[in-house]
Amino acid sequence: MKTGLILQDLSKIKTDCLIVGIVEEEEENRTILSGLGPALDGYLTDGIRRGDFSGKAKETAFIHTFGRIEARAVLLVGLGKKEQVDFEIVRDAAARAVKTALQNRVRHVVFAVPETVQDAVTPYLSAHAVVEGAYLSQYRFNGYKQKQDELKELDELLVVASSDRQDEVEKGIRSGAAFGRGTNLARDLVNTPGNLLPPSVLAEHAVEVAKKHGMEVEVLNENDMKKLKMGALLAVAQGSEQPPRMVVIKYQGRGTWDNVIGFVGKGITFDTGGISLKPVKGMEEMVGDMGGAAAVIGAMDVIGRLKPAVNIMAVIPMAENMPDGKAYRPGDVITSMSGKTIEILTTDAEGRLILADAITYARQQGVDFIVDLATLTGAVLVALGTQTTGVMANDEEWVEEVLEAAADAGELAWRLPTFDVYKKQYKGRVADLKNSGGRYAGSITAGMFLGEFAEDTPWVHLDIAGTSWQEGDNDLSPAGGTGVMVRTLARLAENCADEA
Ligand code: BES
Ligand code: MN
Ligand code: ZN
Repeated sequence: MKTGLILQDLSKIKTDCLIVGIVEEEEENRTILSGLGPALDGYLTDGIRRGDFSGKAKETAFIHTFGRIEARAVLLVGLGKKEQVDFEIVRDAAARAVKTALQNRVRHVVFAVPETVQDAVTPYLSAHAVVEGAYLSQYRFNGYKQKQDELKELDELLVVASSDRQDEVEKGIRSGAAFGRGTNLARDLVNTPGNLLPPSVLAEHAVEVAKKHGMEVEVLNENDMKKLKMGALLAVAQGSEQPPRMVVIKYQGRGTWDNVIGFVGKGITFDTGGISLKPVKGMEEMVGDMGGAAAVIGAMDVIGRLKPAVNIMAVIPMAENMPDGKAYRPGDVITSMSGKTIEILTTDAEGRLILADAITYARQQGVDFIVDLATLTGAVLVALGTQTTGVMANDEEWVEEVLEAAADAGELAWRLPTFDVYKKQYKGRVADLKNSGGRYAGSITAGMFLGEFAEDTPWVHLDIAGTSWQEGDNDLSPAGGTGVMVRTLARLAENCADEA
């Protein structure tokens, strides 16, 4: 899809379909409707007055113009009450409008957001929202069918700008496209099955993204891991024929390599549970157990395109969790890279093990802040459901930054506590720690286990087990990988750059 801006009067724009955002308050729509010219304005205003179209959020009306204006059709899309319009409402309306346009076999669209809405949301963010919504809503996973579905995609999306707002709209289009494309890249990785995406292949994808944007990248193999004494990551990997990898990407957006933010993403390319084998039902969804890794890779793609003035180090541990003659067992005691010993209660609590060594590695590399992302616990689905990412942290300021970035990005996230009283649940009997704290507060004890390795580095943990994969389709994403938290990480990078 090509994207760009257009400065013409609405009535003069030649396009398959002019998408016009409308709010519920009739008088607020006057300017934009009169911009469509007298031949249509009266007709549309009458229709709205009759109640054919109310402007309620995501309501749509596809109207052929029969030559009254240059555009062949007008698609009205509701934005709801003017007071309540925000970034997410514009994004979601755009997603719905693009779907409707495609159903009407339209390939070229021009999007106009009312000035009053642009002023409230900012021209930059409303353009970003429109383009991001368009990219997200058109995503589909190509899959492996011999006969591919017919490609249903816009060829071109232009956003209407007023001449004094041109630069802001331009920037918004660019960042909306970057956010949308980075998210869709993460979705592709999550949707790719385990046989086609072992650690070595996932690592190649990460390297490709880094190289494309001229970032420094290093891939650690099994031997490197042995030298570094990554006993936890190696224990998980040892049951698989597929060797593990750890990809380390450096993005330097500032003159000096300081204030480095570490992004650490769980990359279990398939999680059978290992010797503590998972039940048959739903195991196939564990192709998505690298959702944290995918989020980091997607975010690095966004960052590579937008180049914020911030320093990032991505650390992505990758392994396959399999049962086998060489596999690690319940009861084993392993020594992590940090030196902390861990008693294995279940080989299915593997994510925290590979992350433990990745966090230790990131700290040894000198990162100043950490965000880790992981499809870590089934328990987070019980606690927060499928729409909200679980958040835990050891630092108030840093968690505020991350939660603010999530809010800016329009991704739901909610904090869980890290009270000391939970510690005894994962204190080891014969080792320093146990890799499971039992059934109760499963997400909290898993997160706090990671916190033991973050030590005094400001750290935020995002449990995306509930949000990284969805059962059904919605306007923004089809079933499967959602690409959750790509946009939060990218927004976090941008916000940290603003403050520098
Ligand atoms: N990858 C799973 C968590 C998961 C569950 C992700 C459902 C997505 C959907 C993780 O490795 C796991 O198996 N966690 C266990 C931990 C337990 C054994 C302490 C769990 O949640 O049951
Ligand atoms: Mn597991
Ligand atoms: Zn897992």
